[in-house]
Amino acid sequence: MQEIQLKARPEGAPKESDFALVDWIAPELASGDILVELDCFSLDPYMRGRMDDAKSYSAPVALNSRMEAGGVGRVIQSASDRFEVGDYVFGLTGWASHAVLQEKSVRKLDIAPEHLNRALGVLGMPGFTGWFGLTQHGRPNAGETLVVAAATGPVGSMVGQLAKRAGLRVIGIAGSDQKCQVAENEFGFDHCINHRSFETAKALRTELAQYAPDGIDIYFENVAGPILEAILPMMNVHGRIPVCGMISWYNAGRLGGDASIETLSAPKIWRTILVNRLSVNGFIISDHWDHFSNFLTEVAPLVNNEQIKFIEDVTTGLENAPKTFIGMLEGKNHGKTVIKLR
Ligand SMILES: NC(=O)c1ccc[n+]([C@@H]2O[C@H](COP(=O)([O-])OP(=O)(O)OC[C@H]3O[C@@H](n4cnc5c(N)ncnc54)[C@H](OP(=O)(O)O)[C@@H]3O)[C@@H](O)[C@H]2O)c1
Repeated sequence: MQEIQLKARPEGAPKESDFALVDWIAPELASGDILVELDCFSLDPYMRGRMDDAKSYSAPVALNSRMEAGGVGRVIQSASDRFEVGDYVFGLTGWASHAVLQEKSVRKLDIAPEHLNRALGVLGMPGFTGWFGLTQHGRPNAGETLVVAAATGPVGSMVGQLAKRAGLRVIGIAGSDQKCQVAENEFGFDHCINHRSFETAKALRTELAQYAPDGIDIYFENVAGPILEAILPMMNVHGRIPVCGMISWYNAGRLGGDASIETLSAPKIWRTILVNRLSVNGFIISDHWDHFSNFLTEVAPLVNNEQIKFIEDVTTGLENAPKTFIGMLEGKNHGKTVIKLR
């Protein structure tokens, strides 16, 4: 049994040497515990925040301890009345081959074994985040215009597809021409713009204006930085900005470093929010698990009959988790990033 531990707090972008693959021996199971052999675990942008020793909505990962992650696997030992050997479960397993989990923190999966990955992406936390943020804070109306960046990732692709189904004009922003083709051809976005083709936020705004001639009603915020800078002046009166993430700033640690944007000062941001009566709602999905069954009821049938599509970026081998995680922060992933153990 093995796990990946955090060995050093990254300065800026993480390096492979910030992590180590370590042997691990499962402790004796206490009452209610299960031992899970992982099939796969998820790599998500929020994990970068857990590497900083900074106050946040969740405690940082301690040095020399297992990196956090949601994972799925099979129960191989049980001291619980609720789980039997052979059950497939989801839990906070971490970056590891095996995990001991308490029964109350684990969800039994009603998914075919060949579809276990879905519980980490389209039908797991990221898909749920897109659905919740759009429906609760985006409040979409047919005929409106929505923009979302990281458009081909598990959050952005869910947001864009649900918005299309609700009758909105959907513009994606992604990091390559290939990703933009996927957004348009696979996920059905009306347009997708490659943000790496533009030197300045102003140039990106000029391009966006061609596809959003009536302004933007919903900006689903995944990335911040120059993309936020391009979009904020284009927001319509009574527009909504669900603030889901700001990945372009995650490597800036406590928001020093490269977290600046060229022209937007705090007074300009506040004035735009006031004058346009914008609703700007930050949300953390772990506050909202009580809505998860509604999400599954609505979205799982759409996934099963391919009305909602998804792509997964699967890498095999626990030892490849650090390199894969670093690549995801750089935009090298195509779809939901998953580490497969076997
Ligand atoms: N609030 C919550 O509870 C919650 C829950 C889940 C996720 N989130 C947030 O939602 C966002 C998307 O998550 P995800 O899991 O769907 O990620 P993802 O799309 O699978 O992966 C991250 C993507 O971010 C984009 N990116 C990275 N650096 C960027 C930069 N400087 N400028 C523009 N884009 C950049 C890259 O896409 P491109 O190559 O296309 O640019 C990269 O592929 C993240 O900010 C995440 O933290 C929040």
